[in-house]
Amino acid sequence: MKSTASLAIIGALAPYASAFPAAMMEAAARDSKIMARTEELTRMIEARQAGAGAATAVFEPVNTFNEKAQLVDVSQGSGHEWVAPSGNDLRGPCPGLNAMANHNLLPHDGYATIAQFVDATESVVGMGSGLAIFLAAFGATVDGSGLAWSIGGTPTAAQAGLLPGGNGISGSHNKYESDASPTRPDLYQAGNDYQTVASQFQQLIDASPGSVTMESLTSFRSQRFDTQIANNPYFFNGPFTGVAVQPAAYTFIYRFMANHSAEYPAGYLSYDVIKDWFGITGNSGSYVANQGMERIPDNWYKRAIEYPYDNGYFAADLAAAALLHPKFLSVGGNTGKVNTFTPVDVANLTGGLYNSQTFLQGNNAACFAYQFSAQVKPDVLLGSITTLTNAVNQITGALTCPQLQSIDEAQLKQFPGYTKSPAA
Ligand code: HEM
Repeated sequence: MKSTASLAIIGALAPYASAFPAAMMEAAARDSKIMARTEELTRMIEARQAGAGAATAVFEPVNTFNEKAQLVDVSQGSGHEWVAPSGNDLRGPCPGLNAMANHNLLPHDGYATIAQFVDATESVVGMGSGLAIFLAAFGATVDGSGLAWSIGGTPTAAQAGLLPGGNGISGSHNKYESDASPTRPDLYQAGNDYQTVASQFQQLIDASPGSVTMESLTSFRSQRFDTQIANNPYFFNGPFTGVAVQPAAYTFIYRFMANHSAEYPAGYLSYDVIKDWFGITGNSGSYVANQGMERIPDNWYKRAIEYPYDNGYFAADLAAAALLHPKFLSVGGNTGKVNTFTPVDVANLTGGLYNSQTFLQGNNAACFAYQFSAQVKPDVLLGSITTLTNAVNQITGALTCPQLQSIDEAQLKQFPGYTKSPAA
C-alpha cells in the first residue's frame, strides 16, 4: 500500500507526469529522502512555486548523474572538435545552435533539417522531444523552406537547394526573435538582433554573483526588460516572442548550458563555462565578444538523461518567472517613444478566453504563447504548416490548454514595434 506521503508526492507531481519517466516517479515515491521532502515540495507546488528555480525540485526529484552517459566529448579525436565558421557559414542569434554547428553536431554551414535539429538538441543538451520538435518545426515553417532552416540569415542557393530557404532566424524579428534578449540587442535600436554585445554579457555576469543561476538570470531578465522599455522606442513584448521566446532565451542558459557532476546533478554554471558557450574571451571588466565563435566547453556534461527539458518543465519555469515579475506577461509595447509601455488587455486579444487573473494560473501563459505561435506568417508560403500545427496541438493537449477560438490581431497594431515587422 502506498503511504500518505507517497500519495501526496504522486498527486503533487501528477500534472507533470508526462514530463518525466514513470520509473523516476515510482523511484521518487519509494525513496525515503524524497519522502522527507514531500511535504515541503507539495506546499511549494500548491503555492505554484516560490523562486525562479523552484521547478528543479519538481522535475528533477531524485539526484542522478551518469558520467559516461552525460559527457559530450568534443576533445581532439572525438570527431567533434571545434572549427571556426568561415565563408558562407551561417551563424545567428542562438548561441546554442551556433556552438553545435561549430562542433559539427549540426551541419557546419548552419543550414539544417527539422530532423537534424531535433536529433542534435535531444542528444547534445537533453532537450525533450516535444519541445525540440516544436522549436525545429517552427523554424522550418516560419523562417525556412518548410523542411529546413538557417541558424543565421538567408541561406545561399547552394545551401538551400531548389526550395526557397526563407530568411533564417536572424531575419525573424517578432516571429521567432524577440526584444530584450540576454546578450543580443533589439533590432530597432541597434540595427541587428543577432550580434553578441559584450556589455550585455558583462551585465549578466554582474547580476550573477559567484555563478549563474535561474534566480540570477530571472533578475537579469527583469533588468533587461526595464532597460529596453527605457531605451527602445519600438520595444515590443509579443504574444509568442515576448511570452515564450524571451523566457526561453534566459532559462535555456541555465537548463542547457550548465555543467553537471555528482556534486551538482542539477547543474552548475560557472563563468568559464558560460563564456565558452557565448564565444566570450577576456576577463570581467574587459570581456570580448567573438561573433559566431560559440563553443561547447571541454569536460562538459549535459543534463541527466532521465530529466529532459521538455514543454511541461519549460512552462513551469515560465510561470515561476512571471510570478516573480508579472510584467513579463504584459503583451504590448512602447508607442514610439521610450517609457511609453502600454499593455493590451489579454481578454480583448483572446476573445475573453484568458484575463489578467487567469493568465498567471497554471500553464495558461504558455498555452497562450503556443496557441499564438500557430498564427505566425511564414517567410515562404508553401501551403502546408501541418508539422507545426501538429506539434502545437500535441503541446496544448499535453498542457491541457483551454480552446482558443479567436485572436484579435488588431489590438497589436497600435505598436510601431509590431507594425514594422508584424508576426501574422
Ligand atoms: C531547435 C532548437 C532551437 C531553436 C529553434 C532556437 C532558436 C533561437 C532563437 C530564435 C533565438 C533568438 C531569441 C531572442 O531573440 O532572444 C535564440 C536565442 C537563444 N538560444 Fe536558442 N534555439 C534552439 C536551441 C537552443 C539550445 C539547445 C540552446 C542552449 C544550448 C539555446 C540557447 C539560446 C540562448 C541562450 C539564447 C539567447 C541568446 C542571447 O540573446 O543572449 N537555444 N534561440
